[in-house]
Amino acid sequence: MKPFLIVANWKMNPDAVSAAARLARAEDEVAHIVLPPAVFLDRVAAELAVSDFGAQDVSLPSDQHLPGRTGSISARMLASLGARYVLVGHSERRAMGDTDAIVREKVRTATRAGLRVILCIGEPLAIRRKGMAATRQFIKQQIAQSLKGITTKNLIIAYEPVWAIGSGKADTPEFAGEIAEFIQKLSVVPKNTPILYGGSVVPENAKAFGVLPVLSGFLVGGASLNPAKLKAIRKAVSLRYETGR
Ligand code: PGA
Repeated sequence: MKPFLIVANWKMNPDAVSAAARLARAEDEVAHIVLPPAVFLDRVAAELAVSDFGAQDVSLPSDQHLPGRTGSISARMLASLGARYVLVGHSERRAMGDTDAIVREKVRTATRAGLRVILCIGEPLAIRRKGMAATRQFIKQQIAQSLKGITTKNLIIAYEPVWAIGSGKADTPEFAGEIAEFIQKLSVVPKNTPILYGGSVVPENAKAFGVLPVLSGFLVGGASLNPAKLKAIRKAVSLRYETGR
């Protein structure tokens, strides 16, 4: 039975390693995958007995133009800590300068190191306001660019409308479900790639998304900093475990 994945993206939280250790203990078995700040990975890994873990980003490898990468963290470093997952292309990283070409290189370096990439995809508000056709076109283009020339099957896609992230305004399950189905059918997306929804997932809306068969899980940001909320989200989708859909 495939679990409905709960992925906890802590973003730049918490402030101290002791708090990260506490949060990890509270979310062990609740989140399937915990994504702490990289600096806490080793400690979080030591605290987790059941849950998997990964990183929120990966740096580009050195190349002939930029042989030094001061302050960067390579995919192989992450893998050496036992991380099995990495987020790539989160809209907050794209806003800090990650172009589609950079995202693509990050996907490449991560998969080469054996990490499973959680590729984040999503349209900004201006596109969404234009409606379904414009949103589909944007998503298709973003995925095509992010995966061009990459053959890995070791992939998860997180559909996160940019305007829904951290805003308290989740997408409607109908729209998100339709886009998730659209993503699943794109020729560049390997068959059976799990599609997650992310963007203001909270206990109150989790069930409405969770009943959509096209979704294989959630990428949870803000609510993942509160273990009680994360537990409630997991409980809201518990039907998916029982039916094994
Ligand atoms: P959010 O973040 O749940 O706070 O909207 C989602 C994410 O990880 O991007």
